[in-house]
Amino acid sequence: MKRLGVNIDHIATLRNARGEIHPDPLYAAKKVISYGADSVTIHLREDRRHINDIDAKKICGLKNVLVNLEISTNKEIVNKALKIKPTFICLVPENRKEVTTEGGLNLKRSEKKLSSIIKRFKQKNIRTSLFIDANISDIYLSKKLDVNCIEIHTGKLANLVKAKKKYQKEFLRIKKCARLAEKLGIEVHAGHGLDYKVTNLLCKIKEIREFNIGHFIIGESVFDGLPKVIKKFKKIIKNN
Ligand code: PXP
Repeated sequence: MKRLGVNIDHIATLRNARGEIHPDPLYAAKKVISYGADSVTIHLREDRRHINDIDAKKICGLKNVLVNLEISTNKEIVNKALKIKPTFICLVPENRKEVTTEGGLNLKRSEKKLSSIIKRFKQKNIRTSLFIDANISDIYLSKKLDVNCIEIHTGKLANLVKAKKKYQKEFLRIKKCARLAEKLGIEVHAGHGLDYKVTNLLCKIKEIREFNIGHFIIGESVFDGLPKVIKKFKKIIKNN
């Protein structure tokens, strides 16, 4: 069974635009689960541009809600995440000037640091994932790092599909990586830039077990409402 994780960062973006308390990400976390999401994803960024420490603490403290906390490898954030103790962690790269996460982690450069962080999370029984680009060498490195899961950055594929350009090569690259990862015992997830069309396409890769989707879900909900949008994604995931 494939799962849907809903990223609610942009509920916090909307709240922060006013500097007040509405819309509330904690309420959103409960709601997306009640509408059928399998888990909630939040990204506690170093600059706290959307989700803040209080949101993260409250959301990770929710009973019966699986929370996937995305964080960078920054020492302060890692220590904070260990204290908050979410169900899942996804380690992502962060670059101060980026608008969103632009690519996967540089595993080769950060191997030592990642290895020690992964060990600390695994000791606390937190399922840990690495956000990586679709390349074979990073799959082998992920195995060496003994991580539970990888999340493949699907931004490139999404951009090609949306621009109506040839995407087959990138799709096959993702498929090959997903197959190898599963063969090596690593659970495969996918995320970034996913809309209905790209998710439908990626569902053809049976090794992908989880999709983490944010911007499109929140944006589309302005027109259709969260319940309808989540239901539509669940249907796509279920029917493939
Ligand atoms: N997965 C990860 C690891 C991310 O960092 C993000 C946000 O950049 C997403 C999924 C969701 O991406 P989007 O908001 O484009 O759906």
